[in-house]
Amino acid sequence: MSKNYCLGIECTAHTLGIAILSLDETPKFLVNIKDLFTTEKGGLIPNELGKHHKEVAPKLYAQALEQAKISPHEIKFIALSNAPGLAPSLLEGMRFAKHIAKDLNIPIVPVNHCIAHQEIGEITGAKDPVMLYASGANTQIIAYEAGKYRIFGETLDLGVGNFIDTFAREAGLGFPGGPKIQELAKNGKKFIELGYSIKGMDVAFSGMLTKLQNMLNKKQASLEDLSFSLQETAFAMLVEAAERAMAHTGKKELVLGGGVACNSRLQEMCQVMCKERGAKYFCPERQFLVDNAAMIAYLGIKIFLSQERTLENGRSHAGQVPSQESKSPECIIFKPEDFDKLDIKPRERTDQVEVTWK
Ligand code: ATP
Ligand code: FE2
Repeated sequence: MSKNYCLGIECTAHTLGIAILSLDETPKFLVNIKDLFTTEKGGLIPNELGKHHKEVAPKLYAQALEQAKISPHEIKFIALSNAPGLAPSLLEGMRFAKHIAKDLNIPIVPVNHCIAHQEIGEITGAKDPVMLYASGANTQIIAYEAGKYRIFGETLDLGVGNFIDTFAREAGLGFPGGPKIQELAKNGKKFIELGYSIKGMDVAFSGMLTKLQNMLNKKQASLEDLSFSLQETAFAMLVEAAERAMAHTGKKELVLGGGVACNSRLQEMCQVMCKERGAKYFCPERQFLVDNAAMIAYLGIKIFLSQERTLENGRSHAGQVPSQESKSPECIIFKPEDFDKLDIKPRERTDQVEVTWK
């Protein structure tokens, strides 16, 4: 049976995602499904996440195969998000991936989750963008420069999504708070000074959070006005950081990534900034903004195909000495007999990843 598909697995945080893409230079997206772990209180207990992923993975996998109408034997390899993230989630995802891959005797390609957010922007037409990656745990401004994906700016304390969710939880809005704050903000009228905090291209939210909590507890402002002011202040900081990175790198494109990028006010502010700079604005659809397995498979396919090309070239230029710096193929594509060498990397940073596919 010919093997024409890649199975993607996303497992870095509270989302367990499964996707199936065709193994092409321009892949077809057959399936992109997920199961999100949430609690009433909104707190994330890492061990509970592991349990959740273990429980839902086999069901999602079966459902994905059924929806794609393919046999598991048509899967050529698995793309797995092994970094960065919460160890218990990553571990369960990896266990599941190894289990299937051993069963089918196929390799695993590990993928960095943050870079996958960036690369999926390509399907919207972005070629060499600065990415504003605004999610729950992460808030970073990333761009490709001199052979690496580099972080130009980031949050010095909380991720913007966690910041919004924490405030929302205290206001009794439940989890996730982002969409609810967005709705309330539409009815806010009065702008309240919350403290704009940006240093270079780095931002910070904890001061603003304390101020918001105090005002909420003392009933000094309506929830609508607080939500409105939160969005206007926090998003202006993100847009300014992104704009500085664009000026610094000379790049003329902005792409959004992460769950907070679903926010229509943030999107609008980014669009205005790009228009004023004469830059192009790109925003993937919601299913590719939030944590998802399709972006993992998408980057996995790029890595896999580029590796195949390198090996082909190697064969036709036999005798050529490989460069000292480049990774050996077994560190990029892990065959079942090498699975003990494949591990999770909970703290891997974007700029530590060797970009082998560009
Ligand atoms: P990562 O692991 O990449 O840090 P994550 O696990 O937090 O991401 P995502 O799915 O990327 O997950 O994003 C979830 C976040 O997005 C939550 O904090 C949620 O409140 C926020 N969010 C979703 N929709 C909106 C919205 N419309 N406005 C603001 N925030 C939103
Ligand atoms: Fe993410």
